[in-house]
Amino acid sequence: MQSNEERLQKVIANAGVASRRKAEELIRTGHVEVNGTVVSQMGVKVTPQDEVLVDGVPLGKERKRYYLFYKPRGVITAVTDDKHRAVVTDYFDDVQEHLYPVGRLDYDTSGLLLMTNDGDFANMLMHPSFKVDKKYVAKVQGIPTRTQLMPLRDGLVVEGQKLAPARFHIMSVDKAKRTAIIALTIHQGVNHQVKKMFKTLGFPVLKLSRTEYGPLTLEGLVSGEHRALKPIEIQALKTVAEKG
Ligand code: URA
Repeated sequence: MQSNEERLQKVIANAGVASRRKAEELIRTGHVEVNGTVVSQMGVKVTPQDEVLVDGVPLGKERKRYYLFYKPRGVITAVTDDKHRAVVTDYFDDVQEHLYPVGRLDYDTSGLLLMTNDGDFANMLMHPSFKVDKKYVAKVQGIPTRTQLMPLRDGLVVEGQKLAPARFHIMSVDKAKRTAIIALTIHQGVNHQVKKMFKTLGFPVLKLSRTEYGPLTLEGLVSGEHRALKPIEIQALKTVAEKG
């Protein structure tokens, strides 16, 4: 007979309350009740008949929330950190729901990050078939010519992986400091992709910011601020995802 039991942390994660890791932490720190009893041990399994509460709220009852966040530099894209460094959720004290980031920006990267508690939405945006343009502005060491950057257009090979063609635009150069500001638009999400791309071409990134995500920009926000996505913006992202 097939069992419909599933691990508690998986059930919580699938309900869109938190990532699997965060769900484990919620359990360990006593935020989770099953049928009226706090469960803080790992390994408990539940069925759909069991009543699971996170912070007193039944699973599936959290309102779905969608935010656009201007992540500051020096903040970890995670919901918790063992070493008590600043994490992106620190900036959402005004939001009751358990948000988590859609994808990640590096610790030293600033810019546009989506935050949600909608697991399906997050998975959709993080799926490799989802090809939304993401625009980055990078300050690089050295002053590249257009010709030197042309491999970005053709699809660079980084660590043995051929990347999809990217678009770039040299915004400004500082001859005295030997640096350049370059806008780069990509749609993949390989780890540290932008830094790797520029490093491969011999122009290491000194500073990086993501300024656009599909139709979304940082307009109206300063670093550390967030705003709720409008229904039309959520729909626009879903439409891009459906087109694949
Ligand atoms: N590419 C990077 O190298 N870092 C980021 O944070 C995002 C994209």
